[in-house]
Amino acid sequence: MLVSIVHIVSCSADNEIDRLVSSMTLDEKIGQMTQVDYRYLQDKTDIKKYFLGSILSGGGSTPPTNQPASWVNLYNGFQEQALNTRLKIPLIYGIDAVHGHNNVVGATIFPHNIGLGCTNDPELVRKISAATAEEMRATGLDWTFAPCLAVAQDERWGRTYESFSENSDIVTSLGVASVQGYQGGNSLKENSILACAKHYVGDGNTVFGTGSNNYKIDRGDVVLDEKELRDKYIKPFRESIKNGVGSIMISYNSWKGEKLHGHKYLINDVLKNELKFDGFVVSDWAGINEIDSDYKTSIIESINAGIDMVMVPGSLNPDDHSYDDFIRLAVEAVQEGSISMARITAAVTRILKIKKKIGLFKRPLKSPKDFNLVGSNSHRELARESVRKSAVLLKNENNILPLSKSGKKIAIVGEHADNIGYQCGGWTITWQGGSDDITPGISILDGFKLAVRDTNDIIFSKDGKNIPDADMIIAVIGEKPYSEGWGDRESLDLSKEDKKILKRVNEKNIPYLIILISGRPMLIEDEIKDCDAFIAVWLPGTEGAGIADVIFGDYKPTGKLSMSWPKSMKQIPINIGDKDYDPLFSFGYGLTY
Ligand code: BGC
Ligand code: BGC
Repeated sequence: MLVSIVHIVSCSADNEIDRLVSSMTLDEKIGQMTQVDYRYLQDKTDIKKYFLGSILSGGGSTPPTNQPASWVNLYNGFQEQALNTRLKIPLIYGIDAVHGHNNVVGATIFPHNIGLGCTNDPELVRKISAATAEEMRATGLDWTFAPCLAVAQDERWGRTYESFSENSDIVTSLGVASVQGYQGGNSLKENSILACAKHYVGDGNTVFGTGSNNYKIDRGDVVLDEKELRDKYIKPFRESIKNGVGSIMISYNSWKGEKLHGHKYLINDVLKNELKFDGFVVSDWAGINEIDSDYKTSIIESINAGIDMVMVPGSLNPDDHSYDDFIRLAVEAVQEGSISMARITAAVTRILKIKKKIGLFKRPLKSPKDFNLVGSNSHRELARESVRKSAVLLKNENNILPLSKSGKKIAIVGEHADNIGYQCGGWTITWQGGSDDITPGISILDGFKLAVRDTNDIIFSKDGKNIPDADMIIAVIGEKPYSEGWGDRESLDLSKEDKKILKRVNEKNIPYLIILISGRPMLIEDEIKDCDAFIAVWLPGTEGAGIADVIFGDYKPTGKLSMSWPKSMKQIPINIGDKDYDPLFSFGYGLTY
């Protein structure tokens, strides 16, 4: 009985959408399929003029005053334009909330996925995504471009940290947990934050040297055979679909030379027909532009391949294609028969069904409330828990750790020790991330100060030039923030500055611990020999106190490597299951007390 009522209700909702779609003009339909970055919206009335279906905030696309209330105002201002159209179809607003609601100043920033992979704790990941969803709702946003289901194989890739693991099973279980956390269960409901599994498909397996957009590896080519593509890379998407993910983003990469953005077999045939994905497919940022040098051809091929919404996203450069171009050419393509009306109708139907499910038709405008959820104590507590659970202890000679909270002088060195921007990494407030106090948080140094009985026991030297006498030195070193192809690297050596600092530290002949902040394993074979203890903390986010929790033994380290740790560049890419597998630390490695 219950089943049939549910069935009738959802059928009538579907009929409503079908009726709505059948009343739409071609212009209204193409507008619905168009997504524009807020920065590139020439005038907000363009939402009404072009019937835009979606706005996004790319990395750093933030309102002039970046506060929760400004986001709600921004949202409502755009939504009012959409509600002023003939059919009053609400728009959907998407954002990269990929480690917390990371574009918003004051939000809780959680560890990047690589760290969460080392917790291998789906329940924790579910809670993190649910907390992120709460912070998003408080600022009015509907849709996150997360989780990233990349299965990163090559540490030289600048997006390695967006991947939970080199192992597809971990990516699958944490990815599914994340979808459930954002959406609030196994199906979309009113008030769900729409998740977006990305990037379909092959993400993490591109061959070094094949990158596009001047990148070395990002946006490159995947050469796997179909069986391996399915077993390792399609799998996390298949399971996310079974667990109700409402949207999927296409990858910039190619498969055997063919761009995914125009890949009809993988999008239409596999994703939609075979895997029965019934949400909508969105392109990546100007991702369709890479299909063909002729923009109209790119539009035709991408939509015919099965892309339902195009992240255009617009541009401030008059020489680039903007949304007016996209719309004009897409309309032309339909009128001349290069894209069928049936295909357009199907795309719009998918988009509107999702909008309906998450309650946008009922409550298109957001009320300014619950701002206290953004960066709330309980979310920060959850982030701190995930920081300590993601730390991986790689060396602890003579059980030098845990440290005592009193009676010992500790010298802390290195510019990563007291830098919120560095510990958060890329995709934090801006696309590439930043330095220093870009958002409120607790630095690793502050975490130490909070932990010890007497703060005079902590002495900090940023450059490590005059390291004071102490009982113990802690060097906090690592990478500076980056994102996407900007982080592609030929070598994973530590920086010259870090090597210099470590040399000075080593010369002091005092026991020392190295804390590494990085988006991936780095080359540390020499450095780890000399030190007494070494802990990899990845990109922990705003709650740096989680590191002191482990180092002083309030909590034991439990993190286990979700990626193999190479000895040398010659070994890269190195992954569990390789023949002649001989890493510095194996996949799954991690000490405890
Ligand atoms: C990235 C996506 C992201 C999108 C929107 C793209 O460049 O590849 O992961 O969701 O931009 O910011
Ligand atoms: C945006 C990002 C986007 C990137 C792609 C940046 O300007 O802020 O969100 O992913 O461009 O190139």
